[in-house]
Amino acid sequence: SSLKAFNSFSINAKAELLFRFQNLSQQPELLALIKKTKAQNKPILVLGGGSNTLFCSDFDGLVIKVELMGVDITQDQDNHLLTVAAGENWHQLVEKTIEQGVYGLENLALIPGIVGAAPVQNIGAYGVEFKDMCSSVDYIDLEDGTSHTLSNEDCLFAYRDSTFKGKLKDRALITSVSMKLPKQWQAHCRYGLLQGLDETESTVSAQQIFDSVCTIRSEKLPDPNVIGNAGSFFKNPIVSEQFCQQLLSHHPDMPHYPQEGQMEKLAAGWLIDQCGLKGKKVGGAAVHMQQALVLINDNGKATAQDVIDLAWFVREQVLLKFAVLLEHEVRFIDQDGETNLQKVVN
Ligand code: EPU
Repeated sequence: SSLKAFNSFSINAKAELLFRFQNLSQQPELLALIKKTKAQNKPILVLGGGSNTLFCSDFDGLVIKVELMGVDITQDQDNHLLTVAAGENWHQLVEKTIEQGVYGLENLALIPGIVGAAPVQNIGAYGVEFKDMCSSVDYIDLEDGTSHTLSNEDCLFAYRDSTFKGKLKDRALITSVSMKLPKQWQAHCRYGLLQGLDETESTVSAQQIFDSVCTIRSEKLPDPNVIGNAGSFFKNPIVSEQFCQQLLSHHPDMPHYPQEGQMEKLAAGWLIDQCGLKGKKVGGAAVHMQQALVLINDNGKATAQDVIDLAWFVREQVLLKFAVLLEHEVRFIDQDGETNLQKVVN
């Protein structure tokens, strides 16, 4: 089966077998398929919206496409309580909650992908992260078919990280996610581009934040339905305060954000931009002109190798100029499963 429609980079890769998981009643059938695939020593990949995935080659195993649907919104005295099936589209959920007067997800508007992917990389934007509202995550363990629920603490959330990228990597199929949004809504607009909205004023509304986030994102980030891309390609690097000071002595205007434990987060987009790489092309792949952190399938014809070669070039240039090693945020998948840039570059 072709995966072109199922990855936002629009890379033309194939999967040996594709299973569309649309209803929990398919679970016995799915578990049997998983068992069979494992017995043949073939890999299994859980795929959501494909908006954070680069297929480096065809995939020689079973791809489980998560399409479980359903949104349930209830409340207790102080909170709105959301339980959302993993296959729901994230942005549509954000829109729907705002429409219903349930606020708290507005900063995370227009993030591509499905709800089940939110906990994996702890999606975040404009000063808010998924971990701030997550109460629990349900998953099926692919090793033995058992079902589990993890609390927020058990998910081990960190910047673009969670236990689903650690101990449970390749093991958990997330089926649903629960969130808690306080009825006492608090605006979050201290983040750079949202600072025009004053959160201390009672006038700022969730709808306004939602609209601003949508405007900002549409200006800087290409719509994956129009230009293939996977959002930020690299993570923002976290370095020691000391190293950050050294860089600042040469680049006083470098953006940096203090972190816990005397660390500083740098802006990978700024570093790449400073290397003069906006618009840089390798084959059909290019560095986005409006946001250097985004690599795009410029003409719709980029091969995975084009993207890989461009990513490697970007990484080398940033390393040479700043002595900072960029790690990719996008998941690299080859024939056997998850891999990384160093392993696939020629
Ligand atoms: N910058 C440049 N040139 C560029 C890009 C950025 O100078 O080409 C500078 C900006 O002017 C700003 C700083 O770098 O001073 C940071 O840029 P921006 O605010 O656009 O955010 P980012 O750090 O590049 C992160 C997330 C985004 C998220 C935004 C907003 C990561 C890897 N990326 O990007 O998330 O939307 O902040 O909160 O943390 C994603 O993960 O796919 C994603 C899009």
